Amino acid sequence: MGKPRILSGIQPTGDLHLGNYLGAIRNWVDIQRDYDSFLFMADLHAITVPHDPAKLAANTYEVAAMYLACGIDLEHATIFVQSHIPAHTELAWLFNCITPLNWLEDMVQFKEKAVKQGENVSAGLLTYPVLQAADILLYEPDKVPVGEDQKQHLELTRDIAARLNYLFGKAENPILKLPEPMIRAAGARVMSLTDGTRKMSKSDPSDLSRINLLDPPDQIQYKIKRCKTDPIRGLLFDDPDRPECNNLLNLYMILSNQTKDAVAAECQDMGWGQFKPLLTDAAIATLKPIQDKYHAIMADPGYLESVLRQGRDTAAAIANRTLSKVKMALGYSTPL
Ligand code: TRP
Repeated sequence: MGKPRILSGIQPTGDLHLGNYLGAIRNWVDIQRDYDSFLFMADLHAITVPHDPAKLAANTYEVAAMYLACGIDLEHATIFVQSHIPAHTELAWLFNCITPLNWLEDMVQFKEKAVKQGENVSAGLLTYPVLQAADILLYEPDKVPVGEDQKQHLELTRDIAARLNYLFGKAENPILKLPEPMIRAAGARVMSLTDGTRKMSKSDPSDLSRINLLDPPDQIQYKIKRCKTDPIRGLLFDDPDRPECNNLLNLYMILSNQTKDAVAAECQDMGWGQFKPLLTDAAIATLKPIQDKYHAIMADPGYLESVLRQGRDTAAAIANRTLSKVKMALGYSTPL
């Protein structure tokens, strides 16, 4: 028996930030030795809201380089581009035809994003989770590491798999394997620098709300200097009335690799003027090696291309096998 498999992905829309690293990528790095990892750039998902064609390919490559710069090891992981593997879109169509419309209309993320888009809601935004189900089920992963906000999409993925198995399979020989969600702890969530109650996000219009993984030291310093705090002296974790304080302490704890008790003791009598330089130094020190590695990778496009070509070949072999199984179960003729 080989190692259990995990699969996850990030949409290549805009620059990756500390929330992406501390909440997702670092976790993949921490567990990669114990799993066979499939990590991809969800560039088909990236066009469910209006996008800039001039940036899509470059953003996709940048995310791949960032996976590597953050420590994803090709000995344990396959990195690939979603759109390089047509099986994703093909399986998504087949799933579309067995997914009840009301399952999709109930998705919280769809409702939220649809409100944001106003008049401009595409059918793709609605069927986004069906494509996500295809992304996942093609690779028969054991676990899918994602944030809390994706939990509903994973439940839908399991529901689609169970429905297809029920409608077209045999109980003793299911067509699709149901994956387990691996939801990261709420504490791993990095919040916005300008509003401690909201997640740090690529789509926040203010760049001051996030620290991007490629921000130079002076930019990091500026953003932390300007970030939202409160007028209270003495910095404490877990005060529901001080979400910014909790977030910044949490960030400092993770970036400086200290325990919560150690940070609580160190900061309990501090004011913000004393704390901010510590947080700034910890952020710069964490990001420096990642940035150096990123720039080295980007300086050699041939290398990145070879990584993605190899990733595509490995991933496509698995994806095509699952797709064939589903097509046969649905009654399609075998290709000539
Ligand atoms: N929807 C995910 C997000 O926005 C990205 C994604 C697409 C994904 N397909 C996936 C994550 C498959 C895990 C598995 O974060």
